[in-house]
Amino acid sequence: MVNMTPKEMNLVNDLKKQEKLCIEKYRQYASRACDNRLKCLFQELEQHETHHLQMLEEMGKGQIPQTTQNQQSNQQGNQANASRCAHENTCSQQDFETDKFLCQDALSMEKYVSSAYDTGIFEFSETGMRDALNWIQKQEQQHGEKIWQYMNENNMYN
Ligand SMILES: [Fe+2]
Repeated sequence: MVNMTPKEMNLVNDLKKQEKLCIEKYRQYASRACDNRLKCLFQELEQHETHHLQMLEEMGKGQIPQTTQNQQSNQQGNQANASRCAHENTCSQQDFETDKFLCQDALSMEKYVSSAYDTGIFEFSETGMRDALNWIQKQEQQHGEKIWQYMNENNMYN
């Protein structure tokens, strides 16, 4: 058990609020997106954000969350998604514009969240806590990369 300072607790609570927002956004965006592949991507990211929230809840109790074990289950989840999400819907130009907007907004959110973790890491005294935050931050950066790749493949970048 780690004794958390009030400042560390505040940061954990702020990050929890942020993760809850990410979960809700990805849940709503998955239902709004037209392209099946994008829906699946948002669903996958929602699962990751739910996992981040669980890790932060453990930290709030003074526990250092595991990181390596979870990485494996995420990879398995990615493979399952890849086969389920191969099919694409027919989308209109307007649908395409909506999907593009959702991607831009999600990418901007990931950029913000990644920087919030980066700032948070500097305030923690326990190495295990820093490692956990660093692990989550890296996932947020990978989310940004996945969204960017989707946008690039679908000509959403001018
Ligand atoms: Fe997250």
